[in-house]
Formats: sequence, structure tokens, C-alpha cells
Amino acid sequence: MVKPTVPISFGEFKFSVDEIEEFLRGAPPDERFQKPFPPKIYRLKSGEPIIVRPATKDEGPAMLQTLKQLIDSKYDKDFYHLVAVRTYSEILAWMQNRLKDGYVIVATDRDGELMGIVNHRYFNEDVCISLHTIVFKRAERLGIFLYAAKVEHAFDVVGVNEWWATFESPFGFRMGFRLQHTTKPWPQVQHELGGARVYYITREQWNKSVKPYLTSVGLMGERPVPEDVLKKTIPLKPTSKLEIEF
Ligand SMILES: CC(C)(COP(=O)(O)OP(=O)(O)OC[C@H]1O[C@@H](n2cnc3c(N)ncnc32)[C@H](O)[C@@H]1OP(=O)(O)O)[C@@H](O)C(=O)NCCC(=O)NCCS
Repeated sequence: MVKPTVPISFGEFKFSVDEIEEFLRGAPPDERFQKPFPPKIYRLKSGEPIIVRPATKDEGPAMLQTLKQLIDSKYDKDFYHLVAVRTYSEILAWMQNRLKDGYVIVATDRDGELMGIVNHRYFNEDVCISLHTIVFKRAERLGIFLYAAKVEHAFDVVGVNEWWATFESPFGFRMGFRLQHTTKPWPQVQHELGGARVYYITREQWNKSVKPYLTSVGLMGERPVPEDVLKKTIPLKPTSKLEIEF
């Protein structure tokens, strides 16, 4: 213990838990980054609409309940186990204010049942960090649609200059490859997810080639979502059936 150089009136102070909380939370929500993502519609091969919209923290339990089922070594296929456990921790940290400037977008069916989750967080006005993409219904290109939705939020809604992703699975890497991501020098620059390579795109690449490509292949979706359609997706319901096996 180090003694102060001058006498101090009291030998100890008490701090309330509420005072400590300010120092523990990621940050108060920064309005520059929390600009709402305008909901949009994706259509499955059957024509069934999937609504893609921002999630709220009180919808976290439905996401955790769904992800929890995948936190099991029996899902050590296509990296579902690893991505589920990491996404679970990020959603929990977001709900409990232990993540700086996080943003979560969900895909639901017309009754509000969860079909997929994407999340990202803002490093600063310049850089947005991609966290995870996970879908509970496969072979519908829903994953790449959702991934594109969070990139759209970062560039077109918030207005950052760079998008920094990394990929844990071959299916994830494929999304980045298709959307023309390139790497930062590695290991000089590391992604916060395990120190992996940063795959990035700039705002210029987004505007000049990535967004036009997504539009040409029908992966930018339809807007606006009618109010009554959107309302039916609230409250968010946990996924009743995982359709992740080919
Ligand atoms: C990554 C992820 C979001 C991608 O979702 P998606 O874009 O909807 O793609 P799917 O996982 O359904 O994979 C479909 C692909 O499988 C392949 N595929 C499907 N059936 C196939 C078959 N019979 N033979 C060969 N390939 C086949 C195709 O390449 C198909 O893509 P296409 O429709 O564009 O041709 C999803 O795989 C996922 O949630 N994975 C677990 C978590 C994860 O890895 N997240 C990314 C972390 S970086």
C-alpha cells in the first residue's frame, strides 16, 4: 500500500454500486451510431416474406434462447457452435451494457419468429466493426442478405468510412469474398475477434461496386415494410425449428 504524501481527512471512502456502474458500462448510447436501420423485406424462394429490422434490448432473451440450443459440441459443424457461443456473449453484453456502441439487426418470419441475427459495433465515426452473422434457416441466401444489411447500416445510415470484418467459417469467408473484401496487413492489424485478419471494404468500394452488385442480384431487399407487417414481428419469438442441415 502506498501512503499519500500529505494527511487525508478520512482513511476510507464508500462508493455505491450505481457510481461504479458508469465506469463499467461500454458507453452511454451514442446517437451518432444508433441511427435506426430502416426495415426491409427479403423473399425466400417460396415468396414468403422475411422482415429484417433493428432489434431492441428487451428482445435479447428470445435471441439467447435460440442461440443457447446451438452451444453444444454436436453443432461443431460449419462453425455453428463457435459462432453461436460468441454471438450469445455479444448479445448478453449488449443487453447488460458491456459493449461499446453495439447494434443488432434481426430477420423474422411474418409472425416474428427469429430466422437470423447480425451484429456490429462502432469503433468511432470512421470505422465500424462487424461482429457476427448467423442464420437459423439455410440455403436461402438469408445470411448474405443479413450481412449486407448491417454493412448498409454502417455506410448508408451512419456514414462510416470503413467496414472491418473477419470470418470464422468457410461459409462466412465466402460472403466476404463475394462482397470484395480485402485484407489489412496481418498480424500488424488484428480484428477484435481473436486477433484474426481484418477483411475490409471502404465507403468508395461499397458505393462503386459492392452495393451495385448486391442490387443486381436482388440482395438489397424491398422497402418500405408496411406498418401492419412490421407490427406482427413484435415481440420477437425464439426460433422454433433450426433448419441448418443441408
Ligand atoms: C455464414 C452464414 C450466415 C451464410 O448464410 P447463407 O448466406 O444463407 O448461406 P448458407 O449457409 O445457407 O449456405 C448456402 C450455400 O451452401 C452451398 N450449398 C448449398 N447446397 C449445396 C449443395 N447441394 N452442394 C454444394 N453446395 C451447396 C452453396 O454455396 C450455397 O450458396 P448459394 O445459395 O449462394 O449458392 C450461415 O452459413 C451461418 O449462419 N453459418 C454459421 C455461422 C457462421 O459461420 N457465421 C459466419 C461467421 S464469420
